[in-house]
Formats: sequence, C-alpha cells, structure tokens
Amino acid sequence: MINSKLPDVGTTIFTSMSKLASETNAINLSQGFPDFQCHPYLKERVDHYVRNDLNQYAPMSGLPALCDQIARKTAQHYQRAIDSMSEVTVTSGATEALFAAINAVVNVGDEAIVFDPAYDSYDPAIRLAGGRAVHIPLNNKFEIDFQRLDESINSRTKLIIINSPHNPTGSVLTQEQMELLQQRVLKHNLILISDEVYEHIIFDGLQHQSVNLYPDLAERSFIISSFGKTLHTTGWKVGYCIAPQNLTVEFRKIHQYLTFCTSTPLQAAIADMLEVHPEAWQQLPEFYQQKRDHLRKALEPSRLELLDCSGTYFQLVNYSAVSKLSELEFAQWLTQHHGVAVIPISVFYSEEKQQSLARLCFAKNEETLTKSAERLCQL
Ligand SMILES: Cc1ncc(COP(=O)(O)O)c(C=O)c1O
Repeated sequence: MINSKLPDVGTTIFTSMSKLASETNAINLSQGFPDFQCHPYLKERVDHYVRNDLNQYAPMSGLPALCDQIARKTAQHYQRAIDSMSEVTVTSGATEALFAAINAVVNVGDEAIVFDPAYDSYDPAIRLAGGRAVHIPLNNKFEIDFQRLDESINSRTKLIIINSPHNPTGSVLTQEQMELLQQRVLKHNLILISDEVYEHIIFDGLQHQSVNLYPDLAERSFIISSFGKTLHTTGWKVGYCIAPQNLTVEFRKIHQYLTFCTSTPLQAAIADMLEVHPEAWQQLPEFYQQKRDHLRKALEPSRLELLDCSGTYFQLVNYSAVSKLSELEFAQWLTQHHGVAVIPISVFYSEEKQQSLARLCFAKNEETLTKSAERLCQL
C-alpha cells in the first residue's frame, strides 16, 4: 500500500455536483463552464491545423506564434512590454501553471499564504511541495484583511497567492488594495502568484488590477491566465504564465517534466484567434455583464439575496430566507428537489464556515438562466 500524500483529499465538489446534476437531470449551474459554443473561427482553425499535420510536440515553452500574441495582448491591454521568448510559457490550463509556479517557489518547511474562500488547487499543490498553506479568511466584504495578513507573515513565509476577479465571490481587488499588497511583498521579499484567469470578465466599467500594471510587483510575480475562460474553451486546457526571466527559468524546469508542452493545434488556433478576433477578449466584459444582469433581474422576485458581483461568471446568493440547511445540504437538496445544481461556498474554506451561500455559474445561454431562475423563484 502507498502512504497517501493527500489523505484528506477526495473527489472535488465540482465533480460530485456535476455528477448529481446529470443523475437528477438538473440544470447545472455548479461547475464553471459555458453551455454555449466557442467562436466558429477557433474550431475552423483547429480543424485546419489538425488536417495540415500540426500534430507533433510543440516547443516546450509554447508555440512562438502564441507567445507573441500573448505578449501583444499584454502590451495592448496593460501597456506592459514583455519578452515573448523568455517571460511567457504556455501551459496545459491555468491549473498546470499554478502547480508549476507553486512548486518552483515552495520548499520543504516554507509557508504560503492563501485567502479563503480559495480555489481548491492551491492548498494541495503547496502541501505536495512540502510547504504549509496558511489560510487567511477574506473579510465580510470578501476583501483582504491586511491586519491578519501582517500578523501571518513570518520568516518562513515565501509566497502569497491572490485571485482577482475572485472565484467564488465575484469580488475584485482595487488599486489601493494592490498597492497595500505590493508593500508587503516587497518589504518581506516574497513571491506572488496572481491567478488572473478571469482577467477579462469584469463589470460596471471597472479596470482589472492586473499585476501587469505594477512593475515592481511584476518583478516578483507569476501572472497566470486561462484561454478556457477567455475563449469559452474550458475543455481545451490551454493557459499561460507570465513571469520575469529568472522566475520563468525555474517555472519551466517543472513545466517540462509535468507536461513538457501543450497541444500544438490548439495553440496555433488560439494564436490565430487572438490575431484575427481580438474583440473576443475585448468584448468579454459586456458579454458576461449582460448574462449577469439577466440572471439578477430574473432572480429579483425570488427570496434569494443577491450579493454584489464585480467580476467572474459566478453569482453568490444568500438563501437564509429559504432554508436553514448547511450549504452542502442545501446545494444537494436544490439539485435533487428543484432541479438546479449549485456550489456551496463552505468547500472553499479550510475551516468550517456556514454563511448560507451558494454559487451560481452564469456562463450559460439566456434560456438556461431564465429556466433556472424560474425554478429558483419558486423556493
Ligand atoms: C480561480 C481559478 N483558477 C484556476 C482555474 C483553472 O483554470 P484552467 O481550467 O485553465 O486550468 C480556475 C477554473 O475554474 C479558476 O476558477
């Protein structure tokens, strides 16, 4: 028998809720993926490259055409010049980039700070690297509690992981908060991993406070994004990491043994897409804001309280007027008895926390959103 390195880890809630949704024929607003198609041009380009025999290994760090497009997008959107050869690595999803970056930084006995509710892959990756994940809860507005952050930093602290726009809460980091964070990272000589997979899904005219906008911070950061979110292709698992050369060298040492490289025809197709249809990412805020507003309006007559949502494609609802069940029980009950699958927020916390909150994914067609809202209005 083997000695489990992650004895407490089971099947993720995303898998179990999606399974329950399909068993019960419920509308699946649980796992975060679109139920609409990606751009036809993208499909046509994949088809083109597969037929034209671009079917062998890509360069380890990514297809040059795609790395160039990532650098171009970064320059255009954040006015930051990066070197596509030495500072960009294409990865098999943001998940791989997160794992490689965490493993590049964390040594045995090191501490890495994550903010709860936290995306589920950070903690196990830190532990597999031999480190300790220090979980700090966000405050009741889902913002960083800087006093708690200061109290938690010590000589073992190596890394802070942030995620904005934030899954699951939909909160976004402000310029002021980014500056406070930068002070801590510089003062304590830390490394930052900035999970920016929802960088283009931000609403109400807000500007995403990417680490790309903070040169001193960027010098000490891995910035991670995902074409799954940006181009509606979560199943392709193509992401990337921007980091200064010294960090990229260490990142690639891990990436090359984790996956070596990422699907060649998919990379080529995405490069063409970014070149020919930049509006695909430029118009994402309006595209998803419409969906957010549609869902929120349709839920107005319900007894669910809608929390603010400034980014991501997730809407949090407080169901305390409807039920006293725990978050997990509520999510299961809602799926089984009312035909809408959602995600409990408690699973994103390392310590038990019940706030009567559920996460609804609105990366769905309007009909799907309307139909789910009708069911939720009956609660
Ligand atoms: C915050 C966050 N980080 C990372 C990922 C993983 O992205 P990918 O599918 O590109 O691996 C997700 C996907 O849901 C996410 O929500």
